[in-house]
Amino acid sequence: MTDAAAAQESLEAVLKDEIIRMYQDVADNPEGDFHFYHGREAAELFGYDPAWLDRAPLGAVESFAGVGNPHLRSNVQAGETVLDLGSGAGLDGLIASWSAGPTGTVIGLDLNPSMCLKVQANAAASGTKMECRQGEMEDIPLPDQSVDVVISNGVINLSFRKRKVMEELFRVLKPGGRLSVTDIVSAKQLSQSIINDPKLWAS
Ligand SMILES: C[S@@+](CC[C@H](N)C(=O)[O-])C[C@H]1O[C@@H](n2cnc3c(N)ncnc32)[C@H](O)[C@@H]1O
Repeated sequence: MTDAAAAQESLEAVLKDEIIRMYQDVADNPEGDFHFYHGREAAELFGYDPAWLDRAPLGAVESFAGVGNPHLRSNVQAGETVLDLGSGAGLDGLIASWSAGPTGTVIGLDLNPSMCLKVQANAAASGTKMECRQGEMEDIPLPDQSVDVVISNGVINLSFRKRKVMEELFRVLKPGGRLSVTDIVSAKQLSQSIINDPKLWAS
């Protein structure tokens, strides 16, 4: 491995630890002070239907973190299989599961295993069917062509390997499948001081 590749690998490991710490903190202390939108206020700002937020368990709503509303274009149909990339405490996946219905499947994927425990608890509390896999979006633990729709909200920007993430999404999508992604893009190359700061990258 080259020095540059080794440096990137160790920065990526530090970044993943920071991502786990930060989103765990949002899930455990939703009333805390974070420098990004979260909770019900954020969801309403992004145009989530207040009826969804009343229907979902409080734990999923309070811990919600995102940058937009992937449900505006996802058009999930009954019986479809949905992947919720970076599912957090599960608000987005639960909303998708109401459209997929009992014959559909919603699979959350999260780096942080304790998020999957939260998803399972929130799904059980709301009587909704949603699975969760612990894993990485750069190496999605699902077979080729197994998903009708991918939803994702503020997750792909967190990866150091965005091209690999996109390859994985196209690998798991069925032919004719759909992506509904809300995310952050920068029109300018980020400075090295931002890239090297896990706190800034993770948020
Ligand atoms: C902005 S939150 C999305 C929350 C969510 N959609 C909701 O309904 O609240 C980002 C989530 O992506 C997860 N994540 C970050 N990097 C990841 C990776 N490489 N693979 C899988 N999940 C990741 C984080 O652990 C966090 O739970």
